[in-house]
Amino acid sequence: MKIQPAANLQGEINLPGDKSISHRAALFSALAEGTTRIENFATSADCASTLSCLAQLGVEISQENSTVTVKGVGKTGFQSADNPLDCGNSGTTVRLLAGILAGQNFDSVLTGDESLSGRPMKRVIEPLTAMNALLEATENHLPMKVHGKNPLKAISYEAKIASAQVKSCVLLAGLNSDGKTSVLEKTPTRDHTERMLRWFGVEVAETEKENGKLITVSGDANLTAKDLFVPSDVSSAAFFLVAAACLKGSEIVLRAVGLNPTRNAVVEVLRAFGAEIEIFNEREIGNEPLGDLRVRGGGNLQPKLSSNILRGKIIANLIDEIPILAVFGTQIEGGIEIREASELRVKESDRIKSVVENLRKMNARVEEFDDGLRVGKSDLKGARVKSFGDHRIAMAFAVAALFARGETEITNAECAAVSFPAFFEILQSVAK
Ligand code: S3P
Repeated sequence: MKIQPAANLQGEINLPGDKSISHRAALFSALAEGTTRIENFATSADCASTLSCLAQLGVEISQENSTVTVKGVGKTGFQSADNPLDCGNSGTTVRLLAGILAGQNFDSVLTGDESLSGRPMKRVIEPLTAMNALLEATENHLPMKVHGKNPLKAISYEAKIASAQVKSCVLLAGLNSDGKTSVLEKTPTRDHTERMLRWFGVEVAETEKENGKLITVSGDANLTAKDLFVPSDVSSAAFFLVAAACLKGSEIVLRAVGLNPTRNAVVEVLRAFGAEIEIFNEREIGNEPLGDLRVRGGGNLQPKLSSNILRGKIIANLIDEIPILAVFGTQIEGGIEIREASELRVKESDRIKSVVENLRKMNARVEEFDDGLRVGKSDLKGARVKSFGDHRIAMAFAVAALFARGETEITNAECAAVSFPAFFEILQSVAK
């Protein structure tokens, strides 16, 4: 993919449905009793992986454009799959599905592509084993065999890493446990699971403790089908927010963007760094807050912060936006430093390494740390960069290319389809 620099961005953009919420919408409506119609379901390849795994497990699904209809089978109504369940590139598919399959009375095998096969599964194997499921995975990597058991043993699990996937895995397993299953979350992570379980009629208790929040579900809870609308993906919005905020004279509008407070720190951070983002038409649908966003590019961004360092609890809230925030750092006075973000090393690629390598190729001043990076304000120059097979790297560097002098080439950029198949088409239509 070759990208030319742009003067600014103009227009109104329809973003795809949120990836995290779409996965949950598909999985939870399969677990429910009754039929659920999901509107604005993500167009992402990852969410297609979730749908195809569910179909292999005997769930009837139909799709017309971005509307998906799922006929629920109930918490234990799945059929064992004849073949391994291929989760493709999707960490959310494999980790949430593991929690559901652990509580079924049959065995399953979960597989994925090369990137997913290199990602850590111990984080789900450990709690599910404590619940009496048996999981087999060589060196804690896919393929992973899940020997299901029903009911599972209810546990109280103290989360060791800030991960919404692990939290959701344990809570889903808890729905097929013999009592109350809890997760103690020291650092808040995206709470789409808690919100959507409630939408489907499940009681999710939350208690503030000294060392975090205790989230509890009961093994006797049942889900009842209820139609859903998926907000547009704030993580996909982030690429356009950064591009428009940095290019003087830009004005773009993004409709119905998910603004869940455990997910939208990127908007607040961009504003704090001087970006002009207006939120209007705020509302709530399906227990998820959303709103329309207007971004105006003022050029020459001046941070309104005392420090340009992002670290601590906010990192979990913008974990998927760090590649694009690093690109943003090249455009602001004082740059950006990101720390305590070593989870980035086990995403679809080692995102610290991918970002540092590409930024250097584009002439940016950048320093790598074990747990993050620092990038200074830089004059970017066009270069040949790699996507590292990672959708968010491909899209972040397409935005960097707009800021650069000369043409940028991104190899294997088609992996953007993992979350956002129409990304390049839309970018080209709004870039002037
Ligand atoms: C996700 C949680 C995050 C995020 C991923 C989606 C989810 O992963 O990076 O893109 O939908 O629960 P972790 O739970 O590994 O932090």
